[in-house]
Amino acid sequence: MLFYEGTYYWFGEHKVKGRKGNKAQVGVHCYSSTDLYNWNDEGIALSVKEDTSSLLERGCVIERPKVIYNENTGEFVMWFHHELKGRGYDAAMTGMAVSDNVTGPYVYKKSVNPNAGHWPENFTGEQKNADVQPEDLKSWSDEWKKAVKNGLFVRRDFEEGQMSRDMTLYIDDDGKAYHIHASEENLTLHISELSEDYKSFTGNYVRVQPGGHNEAPSIFKHNDKYYMICSGCTGWDPNAARLLMADSIMGKWEYLGNPCIGERKDITFDAQSTYILPVKGKKDAYIFMADRWRPKNPIDGRYVWLPIQFNDKGHPYLEWFDKWNLDFFDK
Ligand code: GAL
Repeated sequence: MLFYEGTYYWFGEHKVKGRKGNKAQVGVHCYSSTDLYNWNDEGIALSVKEDTSSLLERGCVIERPKVIYNENTGEFVMWFHHELKGRGYDAAMTGMAVSDNVTGPYVYKKSVNPNAGHWPENFTGEQKNADVQPEDLKSWSDEWKKAVKNGLFVRRDFEEGQMSRDMTLYIDDDGKAYHIHASEENLTLHISELSEDYKSFTGNYVRVQPGGHNEAPSIFKHNDKYYMICSGCTGWDPNAARLLMADSIMGKWEYLGNPCIGERKDITFDAQSTYILPVKGKKDAYIFMADRWRPKNPIDGRYVWLPIQFNDKGHPYLEWFDKWNLDFFDK
């Protein structure tokens, strides 16, 4: 979701009726609203290509598109999780497209594995120099888990660039933008700084919760604290959400547990985090947005929106409401 000149723009994966699976047949769809209740269909913002030489060829995977506006260049920059046609989820890339109009058409520019040739800021010399290889260890053994924590996959992907699957974008108060993505075989989140024009990675990045197995990151700032709500990794099936907190975007991030309370708290009310929307014109008003995936009939996927509430310690929590509206935030 992007708020621009009085209007919310909602970007999402376009699904096709009657078509199973998650291959992109059309591209990224955009809707707009001035009140979050009534929506206009703005059509396709980014289209897949028929050209077999394009990485964005129809049949690739496009997930979790996010758009940010760069005030200095006047450009809208879209980043998304991009998997290449015929390669399952192996490529683990992030794609980028730009437009002068918020609703598009966005022009596809490139897809990358980020931060090639750069070490994470919070990586030690010992971690850089360790020589244990993924093939030396049995997956999920204690030694393997320890090695993952110590950067096994960061080293493996150092030359070619890091993996980037579930992702979101965040612009901080100083205008700097960050790309937050599930990396290292979905075992560790990376927070990467974007360049001033938001169109490339600077090479500054940190690892968050190494080996924590988190994905679906969503992020917001409240009372000078950064909060991230993400999920565990169980594919299309929902699991318990995870709340993290930090004093600065690059961390250190502290794990605070499951932000959900009540019935179905362990499956995030049958949903998975996707974005946290600050509501314009209302104080301390944030909407937790989540996806209900329906892989057998993806177009039947649904959205869960819940108001973020704050407990005695000032930390966010989520509870289920059958019904609520924006007046909730005026209480
Ligand atoms: C989920 C992820 C989704 C999608 C799916 C594919 O874990 O959050 O965005 O990538 O896996 O299986």
